[in-house]
Amino acid sequence: MAKLAVLISGRGSNLQSLIDAAADPDFPAEIALVVSNRPKAQGLARAAKAGIKQSVIDHKDFETREDFDAALSEALRMAEVDFVCLAGFMRILTPQFVNDWRGRLLNIHPSLLPAFRGLHVHERMIDAGVKIAGCSVHFVSSEPDAGPIVGQAALTVQPGETAETLAERILELEHKLYPACVRLIVENKARLSGGVVVYDRSVASSGAVLNPPEN
Ligand code: GRF
Repeated sequence: MAKLAVLISGRGSNLQSLIDAAADPDFPAEIALVVSNRPKAQGLARAAKAGIKQSVIDHKDFETREDFDAALSEALRMAEVDFVCLAGFMRILTPQFVNDWRGRLLNIHPSLLPAFRGLHVHERMIDAGVKIAGCSVHFVSSEPDAGPIVGQAALTVQPGETAETLAERILELEHKLYPACVRLIVENKARLSGGVVVYDRSVASSGAVLNPPEN
């Protein structure tokens, strides 16, 4: 059974989706540790409710990013985690940290990468008039939101869609995508190869998303 750490800064709804997935005895990973850089993150209550060990490592207690990341790495090593899932973790990680955890560090982002990296993604997508939106799980590399893509989920943008409704609808997809991608990685059905992620033949594809739809 693989051991995961989930790193959060806030609401923790993606953490919840991983907690729920891991409750299934068939899921190949358990959450060994939840780390928050914010003492008041809502997600900490979710970890407590699920009886998962948690640690608050407040970035304000550290003078440098390097010191913060060293404390983080130490906590992860102590918990003997195999994979680290960023889930709304709002800190840029140092190249050293990213390097140490390369191939074992995942993030979820609410756009179809490589489009719309960074912040305020939903507003930017509405302003750009995109017709298909979605979310991506990717390996973390030193450039934010730019590492190899593990999986994506898409939806069609509806008439009258706002940044808020879009965020809500994408979040629902995120909650399905993250556990599915963690499963693929842990079961070694998706692997890094030549800078991208390749799937096993056993991983089925479920077809196309069209907007406007075919009439
Ligand atoms: C999600 O939209 C995720 O894609 C992004 O930050 C948000 C975190 O939400 N990286 P939550 O804390 O998991 O509810």
